Parts: sequence; C-alpha cells; structure tokens
Amino acid sequence: MKNAVKNDSLNKSRGGFTSRGFILAAAGSAIGLGNIWRFPYMAGTNGGAAFVLVYVIAMAVIGVSLLLVEFNIGRHGRANAIDSYSKISSKFKFIGYIGFFSAPIFLSYYSVLSGWTVYYTLKSAAGLTHVPAAGLGDFFFGFVSSTWPPLLFHLLFSAMTIYIIAKGVSNGIERWSKILMPVLFILILALVARSLTLSGAADGLRWFLAPDFSKITWKVVIAAIGQIFFSLSVGMSGMLTYASYLNGDENLVKTAGVVSFFDMLVALLAGLMIFPAVFTYGMEPTSGVGLIFITLPAVFSAMPLGSLFSVAFFALLVVANLTSSISILEMPVAYLIERKKISRPKAAIIVGGLGFLLGVAVSLGYGAWSFISINEMSILDIFDYLGSNIILPLCGLLSAVVVGWFWREGAIQEVTNNYTINTWVAPVWHGIVKFVVPALLVLVFLSLIKVIG
Ligand code: TRP
Repeated sequence: MKNAVKNDSLNKSRGGFTSRGFILAAAGSAIGLGNIWRFPYMAGTNGGAAFVLVYVIAMAVIGVSLLLVEFNIGRHGRANAIDSYSKISSKFKFIGYIGFFSAPIFLSYYSVLSGWTVYYTLKSAAGLTHVPAAGLGDFFFGFVSSTWPPLLFHLLFSAMTIYIIAKGVSNGIERWSKILMPVLFILILALVARSLTLSGAADGLRWFLAPDFSKITWKVVIAAIGQIFFSLSVGMSGMLTYASYLNGDENLVKTAGVVSFFDMLVALLAGLMIFPAVFTYGMEPTSGVGLIFITLPAVFSAMPLGSLFSVAFFALLVVANLTSSISILEMPVAYLIERKKISRPKAAIIVGGLGFLLGVAVSLGYGAWSFISINEMSILDIFDYLGSNIILPLCGLLSAVVVGWFWREGAIQEVTNNYTINTWVAPVWHGIVKFVVPALLVLVFLSLIKVIG
C-alpha cells in the first residue's frame, strides 16, 4: 500500500488519468485512421483475406503483448518515455529517443489525411452524395492534387491537435470522446448493414474473409505487422506515455486486451463496410490511399438520408483522428516539459509545428511535388512505410528485448500489481515477450532486408 500512496502524490503533480479515463484515452489513441482508412487500404493491396488472417493472428500474439509492454514500462516509469526507459537502465533510453524523433513524421501525414477527412465532412454537407459513383475517383484525386485546399485543412487539423495538447490531455477531450466514440461505433454498424445488403456483398465478403493461403507472402506479413503497430499506436512510446499518467491499481492486462480487441473489431467492421461497396460499384480493392474516400461516398448515396450519414460519419472520424493525433504529440511534449523545462503550450507548438511543416511536403506530394517518389511511392507512402514497417516494429522489438531479457522480476511485479492480480498470465506473457515476439519480428526484418523470403 505504500506504493499506492507514493503513486498518488506523483500523479497529482503530473495530472493523472482515472481508470476509466485511461481506457478511453488508450482506445482513443488506437482507433482512428489506422482502422478505418489504413486497414481496408492495406487489406486491399495485400490480397484481401490472406492479409486479414495474418493480421488477426499477429494482433493476438504480437500486438497485445507489446501494448502490455508499453503500459508496463510507462506505469513503472511514471515519466516521459526517455526517463521511463532510463528507470530500467540508462542503456535503454535511446528507444525513447527514437520515438521522440519519429513523432513529427507520424504527426505530419496523420494530419494531412485527417485534413482530407475534414474536407470530406464539409463536402458531404455540400452535396458529395450527388457525385455519381464513377466520378468519385476523379473528385478525390482532383482535391488531393490541388495545392491550397488540402494544405488549409492540414493546417486546421494541426492547429486543433496543438490546441488540445497545449491545454493538457484530460481537459475536455476525455468528456467528448466518451460520448462521440460510441456514436461512431453505432454509425459504423449502420454502414455495415447497408453495405452487406448491396448487390456485390457476396463478392466483397469472399475477398475479405475467405483466405487464399497461397497469397500469404513475406510482403503480406510485413504489411500486416506494420498495420498492427500503426493501428495499436504501439512502438513509438505513445501508449507508454499515456500509461505513465496512471496510478497503481489499474489492471494492465485487462486494459491491453480490451483496447486491442476493440481496435481489431473496428478495423474488421471497416472492412465489412468497404469491400461490399468496392465490388458493387466496380472499383478496385487495390486502389490505395483513396479507397475509403472513393468507396464510402458511393455507399452513402445508396442510403436514405445519405448526406446526413455522410456528414456524421466523416465528422466523427475527425474526432477519432484527433484522439489519435494528440497521443502522438503528447509523447514528445511530455519529454520537453519534464526534461527541458519548456512550457506545455510552447512544447506543443514546437513539435506540432515541425509535424505541420513535414506535412506540407506530404500534402504537396500528391500535387506540385508528385515528381518526388521512390518505387512509385509518394512522400506519404514513404513516410508511412518507414514509420510503420521499420521504425515501429524496430522499437517494438527493442522494447520486447528489454522487458524479456533485462527486466523479468520488475516487469512481472508491475503487471501483477505487486503479485496481487494476473499472477498466471504474467509469466506466460513474459515468455511470449522474451522468445516469441523477438523471434517473429527478427524474421520479419530478415525478410524486409531480403535475407529470407
Ligand atoms: N493508432 C492510430 C490510428 O489507428 C494512429 C496512431 C496514434 C499512431 N498514435 C500513434 C500511429 C503512434 C503510429 C504511432 O489511427
């Protein structure tokens, strides 16, 4: 109990989460574009159901375990990521620094994409559902390849993110997401119901749910792993930072399980809402980053009160994106406040501003700067590939090695709240983190650098 008292006073000075607030914040961080935009797009470009199968398995084995690793290190450290790693050993603080320096990259394209979402909210109110299905692709590319409108919405979204972080994490946003996230969930269910009654539903379901095992290649595995990291917000210590605001008695195992489950559920529902529409309107599952922006409006126009649904859906997606982008920004901001003695608003502006500037390049990458590309990948694709497929899994691997090989007793004590709960799960989890997760991630990296596969 001495521990609990100590935590309380520490948390007061850092402004802590209540237990309920923490689940909401962590789920808010996880659920966003990763589930609704990136998951269908990745499934579409990586063979459909084959990808989904690998994703579900990897989520259960690697995703949940690493989420628990971050929760564990964060709550134990009760400080920004760099100091939390230092608390285990100063040798490991570089892992926190990798997250710190990669935050602006994630922030940049997350904000550009969220800006597109803001635009689609407004356009839905102004008659997007009247654009014929065949014209939705041109509509999308016309918008993203222009210069000023996407930049303007990117600026707007960046400003909202910075504003919320400048005011402090639990002010307001917690209350809002408590109401709005369930509404988004219900709306997604309604869209799934509409999609499943479209004429192409059977083809869509087959593509999404009946795996062709021959399509499981290393490329698909790499993509599924990257998807898990991005979608769960795991790897760059964002979840670690959130957990550092917790007090001692949260059940971390349960929270990691609940958050992963809902994250996966929302992604799968997003697939169910997109792929029937893709096949109904003769679109290509492989159409890439534009997939949801091109297919969803077609579903809306086939619904009664379509424009209303459309406005509501994109608006709620903007909110879901905000609860994700603030978790990216909070990570480096926590460090700057605690270590560099910079005020919260100033830290939010510095890092958020950097993310905004990088995002300008991302946004122009679809228009004026589209000549910049590697292997036909746009600037957004390059950032996302580097971030999700390399940086996040690398940090995930390092965090697993730290907890697996250098911190057994402490980690178990933390996960079990001083040996009071989860006493049989903890050693199993620790074994997975020590052997299974590193082995799988090393294989993925070997295939990434083409040593195998
Ligand atoms: N997980 C969020 C989503 O699915 C995005 C996100 C939040 C993220 N924090 C992150 C991605 C940290 C990478 C790293 O939309």
